[in-house]
Amino acid sequence: MELIDVIRTTNACRYYKTDEVSDALVIEVLDAARWAPTGSNKQPVTWVVVKDAAKRRALHDLYQPLWDGVMQKYASGAIGAGFKPGFLEHVDHFAKHLKDVPVMIVVCAAVNDITPVDANLGRLTVTGGSSIYPAVQNLMLAARNEGLGSTLTTILCLAEPEVKALLDIPDELATCAMITLGWPAKPFPGRLHRKPLADIAFLDSYGTALPGA
Ligand SMILES: Cc1cc2nc3c(=O)[nH]c(=O)nc-3n(C[C@H](O)[C@H](O)[C@H](O)COP(=O)(O)O)c2cc1C
Repeated sequence: MELIDVIRTTNACRYYKTDEVSDALVIEVLDAARWAPTGSNKQPVTWVVVKDAAKRRALHDLYQPLWDGVMQKYASGAIGAGFKPGFLEHVDHFAKHLKDVPVMIVVCAAVNDITPVDANLGRLTVTGGSSIYPAVQNLMLAARNEGLGSTLTTILCLAEPEVKALLDIPDELATCAMITLGWPAKPFPGRLHRKPLADIAFLDSYGTALPGA
């Protein structure tokens, strides 16, 4: 595929076939991921590929109540608004069928190899993840290029102690995400739902229109 078409159609895949994903493809997407940039090239990210059915079920059992809690907040209007029609239904379906996705990849990071340069600005640090998620996106783009669907999830990080115990993840690592990987049961979107460029890109001063955007 053309790179730009991969970028424009890599969605969060909510519906998967249960067909196996070959080891060669899993290796291919992980290999794409490792070319991502990281601060000082420290490469803090490691991956645990979970194919074992019992462990996938265990991850599902940890994920489901966390998602149910978020879903309740969405449903009550406490968080979130303006979703696309069907969004919550699709995400709920994804959660309910998580154990059936053939591959789950738990993303880990060596916390000591991450330097959040904005840690002392008196607000939430956002650079803490900046040596982690470029690799995740590389993986998802490589998957899309092979016709595989994927979804980046972070809710499972709330169950980090349990996930680390289940997968024997060393103490010094943080869990950063869980990516699902499998063959999509529905076609990829022709176009993702994203803000117009003119709303998010500016020239020389924030808020000044960028010509051509
Ligand atoms: C940082 C991050 C965290 C996310 N966490 C979750 C999650 O825990 N569970 C989930 O179902 N989707 C999760 N998503 C997927 C988003 O809901 C999805 O990317 C977004 O709705 C856009 O979907 P689309 O690409 O299909 O348009 C996450 C995405 C990102 C970037």
